[in-house]
Amino acid sequence: MERADALVLFGITGDLAYKMLLPALYQLTADGVLDLPVVGVAKTDLDLAGLRERAREACEAKHDKVDDAAFEKFAGNLRLVAGDYADDATFDAIRGEVGDAGFLTHYLAVPPSLFVTAAAGLAKAGLNRNARLVVEKPFGKDLESARALNAELLEFFDEDHLRRVDHFLGKEPIEDLLMFRFGNMLLEPIWNRHYVDNVQITMAEDFDVANRGSFYDANGAIRDVVQNHLLQILALLAMDTPPSTDARAFIDEKWRVLRAVEAVQPDDVLRGRYEGYLGTEGVREDSTTETYAALRLRVNNWRWADVPFYIRAGKALGTTDLEVVAELRTPPVDFFEGDLKPNLIRFRIQPDAGVTFDLLAKVPGQSTTCRVPLSVDFTKVLGPMEAAYQRILADAVTGDPRRFVRFDLAEESWRIVQPVLDLTTQPLPYAKGSWGPDEAAAFVPGGWHEISTTFD
Ligand code: BG6
Repeated sequence: MERADALVLFGITGDLAYKMLLPALYQLTADGVLDLPVVGVAKTDLDLAGLRERAREACEAKHDKVDDAAFEKFAGNLRLVAGDYADDATFDAIRGEVGDAGFLTHYLAVPPSLFVTAAAGLAKAGLNRNARLVVEKPFGKDLESARALNAELLEFFDEDHLRRVDHFLGKEPIEDLLMFRFGNMLLEPIWNRHYVDNVQITMAEDFDVANRGSFYDANGAIRDVVQNHLLQILALLAMDTPPSTDARAFIDEKWRVLRAVEAVQPDDVLRGRYEGYLGTEGVREDSTTETYAALRLRVNNWRWADVPFYIRAGKALGTTDLEVVAELRTPPVDFFEGDLKPNLIRFRIQPDAGVTFDLLAKVPGQSTTCRVPLSVDFTKVLGPMEAAYQRILADAVTGDPRRFVRFDLAEESWRIVQPVLDLTTQPLPYAKGSWGPDEAAAFVPGGWHEISTTFD
C-alpha cells in the first residue's frame, strides 16, 4: 500500500468539505497524523487566502477549540486550483501544485455526475499514475448504473487504486461490533441460528429532508442509507471470522455473507412517507419516494438460515438513534410458568456508543421476572471517539482498504435491494415525530423492541 505524499481534494469549497473534510484534516494535522500538501480543486471565485479563511470557519464551526499553531500548519499545507473539471488546464495546474509528490490520493467530494469527468481529466494529465482515487457516495443508483460507473472508472484506475467511501465504516462504534464479536469469547458461541431469534437494526432520524429535497426525492431511504450504511452494518454483524488479519481476507468475508443475503422482494418491505414531504422544495408532485422503510432480510447460510434480520430507517421520526437489537431465543424449558422474556443484546451506535445485555432477574418479593440492563457506555468508560471522516481521510492517504467498499460488496448490496428500489406504490403516511406508519408496528411478528434511550 502506497502512502500518498499529497492529497488532491476535489470539491474543497463544497458542503461535505466544509462540514466534515476540512475539520477532519485540521484535526489529523493537530494530532500529528497527517502533514502533507492538500491541493483543493473547485470551480470557485475564492483565492487561497479566501479558502484558508473558509477552512478556519469550518473548523471553528465543528470543533470547540481550534489550536492556532495547528491551524496555521494545516492552512500552510493548503493549495488551491480554481477551475472546471472538464478543462485540461485545471489538471495541468494540479500537476504544478503537487510538485514532486511521488504518490497521490485524489479525493472526489463532488456530485457523482462528475466522478468520471474528474477521473478522465486526471488520466489525461497522467495524474492517474502512482495515484489512487477515492470517490464519495452515492456509487450508482442501482445495480446496472453502479456497474456502468465502475467500468468507466476502471478505465483510469484499477480496483486496487479505487476506494469507495461509506463514512459509516469510519465510525468507531460500528467497528466496535467486530471488536466485540471477535475479541470476546462470550458472544460468538451463541451468535447463530441456534440462539438468536431475530436481529433488528434501527436507524431513526428526527430531522426531515430539509433543503435536500431534490437529492432525496431521486433516492429515498433504501438508496440513501439501507443499500450502503445499513447493509454494511448487517455484514459486520453476520460475517464469519476472517481466516487471517489481512485486509483482503476481511473484505472477502464481508462479501461472502452479503452473497448469502437473498434479494429483498416487495412483500418484505414496508415503505412510508412523512406527512408534508410532498410540499418540500425539489420533491416531485407525483413522488412515490419513501422517507421510511422497513425491510425483512434473509441470510441464507448455515449460521443464519431462518433468522430474520429486520432493518428500519426513516426521516422525521421521534428520535435520532442507531441501534442494533439481537433477540435471543427463550430457554427451551419454561421454568417460570409463562414469565420468560427473551434476552436482548443491544449494540448502541449513535448518538452514544455501547453495549447492553437485557437479562432476566427476579422481581424482589415476587416470583415473577423482569428485564434488567447490564450496560457499558463506551464513551464514558473509554473516552471520546474519533470522527468518522478522520479515519476515512487517514486511510485515503495510507491506502488501507478496510474502511472502504470494494466493488463486489457494492454490487452485492445493490443486488439485495434492487427489486424494491423503484416501487411505484404510494408509501404509507406517517406523522412527523412518530415511529413511522402505524402498519410498521406489526412488521416484526413479536414487535420491534424499543430502543434504549441514552445511557443516563
Ligand atoms: C448520509 C445520508 O449518507 O448519511 C443522510 O445521505 C443521513 O441522509 C446521513 O442523514 C447519516 O449520517 P450520520 O453520520 O450523520 O449519521
